[in-house]
Amino acid sequence: MFVCICNAITERQIQDSVAAGASSMNDLQAQLGVGTCCGCCKDLASSYLSGNNAQGQNMVTAGINVQG
Ligand code: FES
Repeated sequence: MFVCICNAITERQIQDSVAAGASSMNDLQAQLGVGTCCGCCKDLASSYLSGNNAQGQNMVTAGINVQG
């Protein structure tokens, strides 16, 4: 799924950047260029940062090795 149409940035690219340490919208902009044109994708892009919503939380919890 494309998050940033202007720069053809996908959800996967943003998730990978966050997993690699991006922790702010500035980080995502510097690394990917997301949100640097019309800016209408900024809210969605920032939702992937640090568990701000269900998408981010799922990504964080996906990295936890649960034994049971
Ligand atoms: S859709 Fe991301 S800057 Fe326009």
